[in-house]
Amino acid sequence: MGRTTLRKLLLASAWLRLFYLTFAEDVPPTSDFLRRNHAAAIVLGDYLYIDGGEVSHLDNGKNSTDKRASHALNHTLSLPLNISWNNQTVAFNKIPKPPSVPSLNCQAAWRDPSGTAFYIWGGITSYRTQPPPSELWKFTADGYGGGSWNKHEKISSVSLGKHVRTSRGAWTQSRDVGYWLGGYGTANTDTSILPPQSSDGDKNIFLAVPGITSLKMASGELTNSSSVGMGPFGTLWGGSAHHVPFGGGGEQSDGLLVFLGGVTAPVLSYLESPDHRPVEFTNITVYDPLHKKWYSQQTTGAIPTPRYQFCVVGVKGDNGTYEM
Ligand SMILES: *[C@@H]1O[C@H](CO)[C@@H](O)[C@H](O)[C@H]1NC(C)=O
Ligand SMILES: *[C@@H]1O[C@H](CO)[C@@H](O)[C@H](O)[C@H]1NC(C)=O
Ligand SMILES: *[C@@H]1O[C@H](CO)[C@@H](O)[C@H](O)[C@H]1NC(C)=O
Ligand SMILES: *[C@@H]1O[C@H](CO)[C@@H](O)[C@H](O)[C@H]1NC(C)=O
Ligand SMILES: *[C@@H]1O[C@H](CO)[C@@H](O)[C@H](O)[C@H]1NC(C)=O
Ligand SMILES: *[C@@H]1O[C@H](CO)[C@@H](O)[C@H](O)[C@H]1NC(C)=O
Ligand SMILES: *[C@@H]1O[C@H](CO)[C@@H](O)[C@H](O)[C@H]1NC(C)=O
Repeated sequence: MGRTTLRKLLLASAWLRLFYLTFAEDVPPTSDFLRRNHAAAIVLGDYLYIDGGEVSHLDNGKNSTDKRASHALNHTLSLPLNISWNNQTVAFNKIPKPPSVPSLNCQAAWRDPSGTAFYIWGGITSYRTQPPPSELWKFTADGYGGGSWNKHEKISSVSLGKHVRTSRGAWTQSRDVGYWLGGYGTANTDTSILPPQSSDGDKNIFLAVPGITSLKMASGELTNSSSVGMGPFGTLWGGSAHHVPFGGGGEQSDGLLVFLGGVTAPVLSYLESPDHRPVEFTNITVYDPLHKKWYSQQTTGAIPTPRYQFCVVGVKGDNGTYEM
């Protein structure tokens, strides 16, 4: 075998190996699929849109040789809700994201009042990479499971710059306003937060950020209001929020926000700090966004154990009740 041929073969095998090592699919074949986590999902029309988060999968039935067990998605995905599918037949639509659109974990997705677009807010990068700049991105659906990404045309970069990006905030929305309470900031959520200056392992700087952010979606008006009244520290991460479409009083009322579970922590602390306290379901926190007032309510009956990173769903009961 000639020297050149050998070199070509070696080069080819190096390329193949590189390709094999970095093999990663946002929508792996069903037989290779393991799990998804940290994604945000929202329904627009006949489709469920899934954005951000990570996916883990096998390589042709074998454990991946990649050291990382999962990877961030480069696509927004959608699933039709007006046809039947199961885990064998499911067909995701893959919508490419331009490189400038962030792909983050634990972000919010707020539906635009038009019902044909959503915004992403907050979140944290995968594998401790540099966080994206402060921008507000909007996905506009095409009505057929696709769509496109653009920046919000009205929001001011000054008001955006004043808001620290956090991860695992408790988020919900009314028709017109997106809400995000607390969350935590690290060097991987916001460029204004410096990475830890010591080499002290995983003791990352961890800011439990106070304040409740509201975004009037149509106008792009962003407000940070006081969260004093949310637990002992005015902070919450990993909790869930739910908007109830009543209460608050007056014609201008935007309903009430109910905050459940999660963890409350002093503003500047470490992730493993013993100061982090679970928020018990014995005492529920309620916020009236119109009057900017916080309330708390004792619960009775069979009370769930404390937890974080869970889902909340609410529907009107048939007896004048509202079930969550
Ligand atoms: C996603 O895009 C990044 C940047 O272009 C790239 O490094 C990465 O390999 C891509 N991931 C997948 C799963 O294609
Ligand atoms: C992949 O690795 C895990 C953990 O080592 C093991 O439990 C599992 O059986 C492996 N799966 C395959 C398909 O090799
Ligand atoms: C697919 O669905 C079947 C039937 O519900 C279930 O038994 C199976 O575990 C599912 N497979 C995966 C990979 O989720
Ligand atoms: C599902 O919805 C899409 C978009 O509205 C529509 O084009 C399609 O015909 C619908 N499919 C069925 C089976 O109703
Ligand atoms: C909201 O304002 C408080 C008090 O000024 C500040 O500490 C916090 O960082 C702000 N929240 C966000 C998300 O920027
Ligand atoms: C319930 O929580 C609120 C807000 O954190 C607090 O002010 C109140 O004292 C708590 N009530 C009880 C009975 O623990
Ligand atoms: C509705 O409330 C009435 C009076 O409290 C009760 O008797 C009835 O069982 C309730 N119905 C449902 C469906 O909860």
